[in-house]
Amino acid sequence: MNNALPILVFGASGRVGQVFCREAQARGWTVVAPQHGECDLMEPEAVCDYVLRTAACAVVNCAAISGLEECESDALSAHLVNAVSPARMALACRHTGARFIHLSTDYVLDGRKQGLKSETAHCRPINTYAESKREGELQVQEALTEALILRVSWVCGNPERPSFVESVLARALRGECLAAVADKWSMPTHAVDIARAALALLPTEQRGVLHVCSAGDPLSWHDCAVICMQLAHESGYLASMVHVAEQHLKGVPFFRAKRPVHTAMDSARLRTLGIRMPEATETLRHAVSDFFLFKGAVKR
Ligand SMILES: NC(=O)c1ccc[n+]([C@@H]2O[C@H](COP(=O)([O-])OP(=O)(O)OC[C@H]3O[C@@H](n4cnc5c(N)ncnc54)[C@H](OP(=O)(O)O)[C@@H]3O)[C@@H](O)[C@H]2O)c1
Repeated sequence: MNNALPILVFGASGRVGQVFCREAQARGWTVVAPQHGECDLMEPEAVCDYVLRTAACAVVNCAAISGLEECESDALSAHLVNAVSPARMALACRHTGARFIHLSTDYVLDGRKQGLKSETAHCRPINTYAESKREGELQVQEALTEALILRVSWVCGNPERPSFVESVLARALRGECLAAVADKWSMPTHAVDIARAALALLPTEQRGVLHVCSAGDPLSWHDCAVICMQLAHESGYLASMVHVAEQHLKGVPFFRAKRPVHTAMDSARLRTLGIRMPEATETLRHAVSDFFLFKGAVKR
């Protein structure tokens, strides 16, 4: 890998992409980050040309249509953005010799059984988003066997692009009643930890699918919300402990897409490479602290 060349990042305005660019620049990398309008992943051939025209040592794809309901409403766009364009990026990297890292999701996994899932676990996408992401994983590997696919889950820690964690904290600050789904489990993962793992893996020859998520036991959204309230209260940002009611997947009216139930992953392969991810509780502590810092909130 020619370190004198930049890293080309797709999806640089996103939850992970923003943080990845910041972390890469902090380590001295030059980053080329086309905005959505400059290189639209709805046009796979243009994406391929863009990669071929850019002298980059690596391409990192953080772009996706990541909204489940959005994917259900527009399966063609999900297919183009989440599968076809990433495959074209991979193909272009085969020509230029650039390293290719593509982000995927725990939602491709079969979520019917409890327990942490390894990279060899069975996949069984049950919604359009997951189908398009799984298709992306397969097409990317077919186009470029050296490609590295990082499956991540429940990204938090970027208050500029709020996720469940930041939304629940914002609602608590506004004094709203809180409820969260208690019958679906995964692993919250901080965007900074994903970015750091990706940067550590960049100069390696690791290929195929690799799980990148926090360590520990699977958590439900309800568990995450309760832990966040405890952390916010303990650190003095919430005057009292806020109650979080339990919700069930079937009772959330705006969930049109089916959600897999047990998709928490194990980052064992990452650990064998000496890259350690924090425990999920530490991840939430980090995200809670980032959120209140970003809000400029005052301790009570
Ligand atoms: N968020 C999670 O909890 C989560 C969980 C598991 C896996 N993942 C995976 O992690 C990766 C990053 O997710 P994220 O949460 O950071 O996503 P995000 O915040 O939704 O950001 C998506 C990025 O993709 C860009 N994008 C979308 N459509 C595009 C198009 N047609 N052309 C060009 N750019 C386009 C967006 O640009 P604009 O903002 O300009 O539209 C944005 O920069 C994705 O592969 C996602 O599937 C995320």
